[in-house]
Amino acid sequence: MPANSTSADSAAVNQLRGELRVSEAFLAKYNRPGPRYTSYPTAPIWNDAFGPVDLESVHEEANRAGSPVSLYMHIPFCESLCLFCACNVIIQKNKDVAPPYLSVLRQEIHRVSESVSRDREVVQLHWGGGTPTYLTPPQIADLFGYTRELFTFAPDAEIGIEVDPRVTTPAHLEVLRRLGFNRLSMGVQDFHPEVQQAIHRLQPFELTRDLIASARELGFDSINVDLIYGLPYQSPERFAHTVDQIISLAPDRIALFSYAHVPWLKKQQGAFAAHLPAGMQKFDIFRTGLAQFLDAGYLYIGMDHFAKPGDELAVAQQQRTLHRNFQGYTTKSGADLYGMGVTAISGIQNAYAQNHRELRNWEAAVAERGIATMRGYRLSADDRLRRAVISRLLCHTVIFKDEISREFGVNFDEYFADALQKLRGAREDGLLTESAREIRATGLGRIFIRNLAMAFDPYLEKQQLDAQPLFSKTL
Ligand SMILES: C[S@@+](CC[C@H](N)C(=O)[O-])C[C@H]1O[C@@H](n2cnc3c(N)ncnc32)[C@H](O)[C@@H]1O
Ligand code: SF4
Repeated sequence: MPANSTSADSAAVNQLRGELRVSEAFLAKYNRPGPRYTSYPTAPIWNDAFGPVDLESVHEEANRAGSPVSLYMHIPFCESLCLFCACNVIIQKNKDVAPPYLSVLRQEIHRVSESVSRDREVVQLHWGGGTPTYLTPPQIADLFGYTRELFTFAPDAEIGIEVDPRVTTPAHLEVLRRLGFNRLSMGVQDFHPEVQQAIHRLQPFELTRDLIASARELGFDSINVDLIYGLPYQSPERFAHTVDQIISLAPDRIALFSYAHVPWLKKQQGAFAAHLPAGMQKFDIFRTGLAQFLDAGYLYIGMDHFAKPGDELAVAQQQRTLHRNFQGYTTKSGADLYGMGVTAISGIQNAYAQNHRELRNWEAAVAERGIATMRGYRLSADDRLRRAVISRLLCHTVIFKDEISREFGVNFDEYFADALQKLRGAREDGLLTESAREIRATGLGRIFIRNLAMAFDPYLEKQQLDAQPLFSKTL
């Protein structure tokens, strides 16, 4: 048992192990397409009736509210395509594409900054992709310096970036640290050579190990590693080795994503479809990784996230201040998220907005009025209530009925009679407990939390009538 575990912790781990002994029939019932709820309502519900003018009025509302600010910038480029990838990427070996992209991005940043009062502090900035370290160190310094000039940063702002160890040099890390970046998120996925070959991502263990060591020396506060279970040629034994290797590197956080197989959106995923572990096999891989991380002293935050005890995510979960947004779990609840760059998403006050997904359209929209909204959504009162319920379930794993009733002026049991009815089966299957006071996910329910959240989402019924699948499976 690791030094920081207590016997209560290990009892909880053992109980979870017991709960995870599920049948094929159970998996067949619960492993079905479902949203990851990085927003509610989910993106397929947003529509193009919401445009730049609507976003501008939402910007004004946010300024009046004076809420803290979170900035997201999307750098879509990667040098080569990983075949499993479901992100919004542009594969381009020729790096001449970066300067024109950055020039448009600067225009958008400038326009957005005009809508954000300097009295409002930026508490979080995140660069995602694609691969932000596709940019050279001078390009990174230039883009970040420009952003800092236009916004007011909180002294303890969380400043993070996604890095692909295969294209990230010590010079990149040095410049990032010097600029004030304090969080790194690294893609690893799996270390097994056969898996790496199948997904077209050759990334030796030593490369990741050395990058993490350099990041530690430079003093980054928090290092996250992304892994994926359910990739082609993975087995529980093989994945256990990857997890052991990761544990030896002691990252602060781990994202253990379920492989999202969405070949109708990403054709290249078809290349290895015949070699994917499915059903119980895929669940076994997850179960193995989960047990290893728990045994190593990590806490299971929820859905796909683990953190060391004492990490802000773990503390936020205990204090019920954890929040979920497009980057997954975050400690910055209450901040308005301004997304910039092609495809970027904003979540501001009671609205969502997404930028154009085609590079040319995004460029043209920024040139025209600086705001590049392609579609969006304003939440109704019912949406806001359901968003709060789903968010609490996903972040705190418990919904206190009275709290919701008081905040929204409803009677929880009456308002959600339909959802509670839908959850009856899940309760019988051991995914949750319900009392007059609360609905609480069990250990098993925390793994299948998306299924529980789906009961509160009335849009799904209509979406599932559509022939085209919209979401990956919940496991
Ligand atoms: C936008 S990528 C950024 C990281 C960086 N480009 C890299 O690859 O190292 C963020 C993460 O999304 C995850 N991801 C991408 N496609 C996925 C899929 N189909 N299923 C599950 N996770 C996926 C990967 O774990 C990846 O590290
Ligand atoms: S996983 Fe990362 S590097 Fe690979 S294609 Fe996706 S965004 Fe690019």
